Amino acid sequence: MAQALRKEPNIVVTGTPGVGKSTICEELSRKTGLKHLSVTELAKKHNISTSSEDPEDPSTRIVDEDRLLDVLENDLEDGGTVIDWHACDLFPPRLVDLVCVIRCDNKILYDRLKARSYAEKKLQENMDCEIMEVLLLEARDAYDSEIVVELKSEKTEDIDSNVDRIEQWITQWKKDHGKEGDDVKAQQQDGGKKDEDDPMFLHG
Ligand SMILES: Nc1ncnc2c1ncn2[C@@H]1O[C@H](COP(=O)(O)OP(=O)(O)OP(=O)(O)O)[C@@H](O)[C@H]1O
Ligand SMILES: [Mg+2]
Repeated sequence: MAQALRKEPNIVVTGTPGVGKSTICEELSRKTGLKHLSVTELAKKHNISTSSEDPEDPSTRIVDEDRLLDVLENDLEDGGTVIDWHACDLFPPRLVDLVCVIRCDNKILYDRLKARSYAEKKLQENMDCEIMEVLLLEARDAYDSEIVVELKSEKTEDIDSNVDRIEQWITQWKKDHGKEGDDVKAQQQDGGKKDEDDPMFLHG
């Protein structure tokens, strides 16, 4: 099947719970108009999640990934989305243009999760997830390493600097892929390859 000719990119923002994904997605969506697709919210809206079977952790929701992809399919085909979820490898690579893995210092993350009154076991699992770089490894396994970037989000200033950086990347992506549709043939011919001058990739 021919590659979809999106005029705006799809960006996945992923990372351990509490690293600051939604904070960045909300600001990015506000500044760029990209559609914020929070999987947590979509799962509630479409009733596609169930409670965890772990008796110690019934509040955690398990999302039905097949149904989630059905819900997301049209938006992803159209492009112009920012997907907010603590997993990433379920999204088809052909529909993903950039994966931002949000990272956070352990002590800061611990304090954020503690503030949510997480049970010790859940808190420790999430801390291990961040320490073992689980989401970064998952992203690198699932997608071309050129489109995976790590962004720290520890201080308030990091929110704006990350959003600015992603905005610059979007501007470059639109130039490379021809927002007006003139250059979409190039996208098809080079398989959507990134411009080597793209600041996101040189310094990612
Ligand atoms: N760069 C930052 N500086 C300071 N506080 C931050 C930063 N980013 C996020 N926070 C705070 O950390 C907490 C967690 O942020 P957020 O809800 O965005 O995380 P999340 O990754 O979306 O979590 P979840 O996976 O559970 O949805 C919030 O209280 C938020 O205000
Ligand atoms: Mg969130």
